[in-house]
Amino acid sequence: MEFEKTAEFVRSQLSEKRFRHVMGVVSSAETLALCYGADPEKARYAALLHDITKEYDREKQLKTCAQWSIILDEDTYAETALLHAVTGAYLARSMFGADEEIFHAIRWHTTGRAGMTLLDKIICLADYIEPNRNFPGVDVLRKRSEVSLEAALIDALTGTIKVTVDQGKTLHPDTVIARNALIREKTIV
Ligand SMILES: [Fe+2]
Ligand SMILES: [Fe+2]
Repeated sequence: MEFEKTAEFVRSQLSEKRFRHVMGVVSSAETLALCYGADPEKARYAALLHDITKEYDREKQLKTCAQWSIILDEDTYAETALLHAVTGAYLARSMFGADEEIFHAIRWHTTGRAGMTLLDKIICLADYIEPNRNFPGVDVLRKRSEVSLEAALIDALTGTIKVTVDQGKTLHPDTVIARNALIREKTIV
């Protein structure tokens, strides 16, 4: 898996702005990996591929799911914005040989899940705090990410839940499950 070659493909699939976001996630994921003892190369690669199908329209997302016989739960099926995590994971595996760890980190980067691995946590949080993100409180979250991966991720998931509910959208239960699991597993700093 060559990073530069893969990056060229990723760039060809995305708008300039989204590619910039992806490279921001690569940078944040590498920093978090070095801070929390994950493999930085693996984190960079998972980050590079995490949004690879983000710009597919709904029809292409569903076609891609059908191609791999992916069975979607109803909350994922209903929310187009969630589909790229599923199709992206499968594409990363079939096209770039992503291993199970990378596959799962991409698969769960949007919603989170119960029992997240170290790499799952890193990609999910890096997606939220990468340098191009600009929302109230992001700097506090970035600082917190240097102290506790879990505490920062709990805050990020809480933010996702609040925004999703405020927007009147459906909330994927995995996000609540992920947050509950993190709160249980962690003594918050
Ligand atoms: Fe994403
Ligand atoms: Fe992303």
